[in-house]
Amino acid sequence: MNDIALSEAVARPAHVTDAVFFDFDMFSDPALLQDPHARLLNLHKEAPPIFWTPRNSGHWMLIGHKANFEASRDPEMFSNNLLSEDVIAAYEAMMPPGSPRFPRARPITVDPPLHGIYRGPLQKAFSPKSMAALQGKIRILAAELIDAIKPLGKANFMPTVAEPLPVQVFLEIFGLPLERQKVYRALVKEYLENMAGGDQLKGPTMMLKVAAAMRDTLLERKENRRDDVISLLWNSKLEDEEGKEGRDTNLDDLEDYSVLLFIAGLDTVMNGIGLGVVHLAKNPELQRQLRANPKLIPEATEEMLRRYTFTVPPRVVGKDGVFQGVEMKKGDKLMLCLPAADLDGKEYPNPETYDAKRDNNVHIAFGVGPHRCLGSHLARIELNILYEELLGRLPEFHLDPEYPLHYHGGAVIGPDAVHLKWAV
Ligand code: HEM
Repeated sequence: MNDIALSEAVARPAHVTDAVFFDFDMFSDPALLQDPHARLLNLHKEAPPIFWTPRNSGHWMLIGHKANFEASRDPEMFSNNLLSEDVIAAYEAMMPPGSPRFPRARPITVDPPLHGIYRGPLQKAFSPKSMAALQGKIRILAAELIDAIKPLGKANFMPTVAEPLPVQVFLEIFGLPLERQKVYRALVKEYLENMAGGDQLKGPTMMLKVAAAMRDTLLERKENRRDDVISLLWNSKLEDEEGKEGRDTNLDDLEDYSVLLFIAGLDTVMNGIGLGVVHLAKNPELQRQLRANPKLIPEATEEMLRRYTFTVPPRVVGKDGVFQGVEMKKGDKLMLCLPAADLDGKEYPNPETYDAKRDNNVHIAFGVGPHRCLGSHLARIELNILYEELLGRLPEFHLDPEYPLHYHGGAVIGPDAVHLKWAV
């Protein structure tokens, strides 16, 4: 059982009224760690759709669907520029001379119009067509991982399948040798451990480590271009603010992209797989239906993404203002609780029910607005193929009662371990 202490409560700012104050620790709330989506369903009954919590340095939390949808589409009021260039420059100035540059993880850390300039090259790299070309390789990887655990009759699905699959796909996309898997899996592990407690200061150190692990490959690929994402990014030009073709990409840009793709593409898919597989393990009838008719898997994937949405992107309030009747001040921190938005009964009747045929099946698990996930095509391919191969290769599987489930909260919610059992 996770037993993380609640973070210290800070004083409530004067502009936060009683009506929008609610004490909730998104990292350590005990009920969240036991069953995150059950807790979020309850939160809709207990808390207002927009509230301010004194935990984790104090921040706004948007749980209503309307609030999340509108805030995500208003980058002027809700900025992604969490660490301004001045703060980064101050941070770099404190480092010893000759220290590496601090990666910026662009485009997720910048607002329009700069955002669009940096998003352009990635949009090409992660287009549906480029991602569809990877399907065969992803299927082989998924099949190998599942076949390796099949004879055992039981396994913890997270370290054996859910985590190595996206890491291996990442290596494939970047054109990295499989031997690098160990290095990247160790980095993912360290990253997840560092993020678990919500210590924001550990983020920059991790980003430096990820950039250092990528640098030799980035430089090598600059000279020897191939058919992979790194080469495509080297071949790209960054537009200027008028939308005209501007300068060539450089090593700083490539590092910024690589760090972002590492952060955005690995633990997201891993946690999404974990949550989906728990749902399947608890619902043998659904397993039977999908085994009998695998064509239903893509719609099952979508409904599992809605029912178990799991990322909570941060924002900073960009200017003083009133948002949906709530007064906010420039500099206030804010979290878009997309998992709660996708469980809002005002948007999805009976939100707790898994219903792949529901009338409104448009979820916001991949976000909405200018920062909408660039990896959604890839993520959907990975999830669909994983479920197809899992249901095709393993007989009916269940949760192993010897290991009760427990979860982590924070920016990416998911199970810490998923122990499955099946007949051999
Ligand atoms: C099921 C898995 C995934 C989920 C649920 C997910 C979710 C999200 C969400 C909610 C955002 C918006 C963040 C914000 O508004 O600040 C986002 C952005 C992003 N995601 Fe994903 N993601 C997933 C997988 C991936 C994968 C596999 C990749 C690529 C390898 C990826 C790359 C990105 C990038 C580059 C952005 C930033 C886009 C921008 O700032 O313009 N994601 N993702």
